Amino acid sequence: MALREIRLQGDPILLRECREVKELKDRDQQLIDDMLETMYSNEGVGLAAPQVGVLKQIVVMDVSEDKNEPIVLINPSVAESDGEQTGPEGCLSVPGLYGDVTRPMHVVVKALDRNMEPINMEGDGLFARAACHEIDHLKGHMYTELAQGPLYEMKDEEEED
Ligand code: NI
Repeated sequence: MALREIRLQGDPILLRECREVKELKDRDQQLIDDMLETMYSNEGVGLAAPQVGVLKQIVVMDVSEDKNEPIVLINPSVAESDGEQTGPEGCLSVPGLYGDVTRPMHVVVKALDRNMEPINMEGDGLFARAACHEIDHLKGHMYTELAQGPLYEMKDEEEED
């Protein structure tokens, strides 16, 4: 496994649509492993392939508290959504900044796993937010397009008086 360079906002590759994956070759499995390692090492909740410069519909996520439940989604789409949540959202391609974004509270995601077997994943809260955010990346969309008001830095509690 290896860390990959994360493309930052302003890189035109982040605004392009990703290709559907027809088969997963060895190099794609390597990409998935590298994306997981890159996500964990940057303390991210999710990472989409275009963020490491690859225009394929591949997403990795981990919304667990202990960061030990990796999720791999190939060709993912939101099959069902309901409810609404508004809250801070960040992106490894926009380091240090957050914006308030409204997302569904609950989603069902249809995808393939890394064996190219069909899966349905269902979840609330952070799962729903992260899944929508990452699937947007695959269509060339950034959360900053949806942010209400200006982006802001999140202060650590230690920094507060
Ligand atoms: Ni992102």
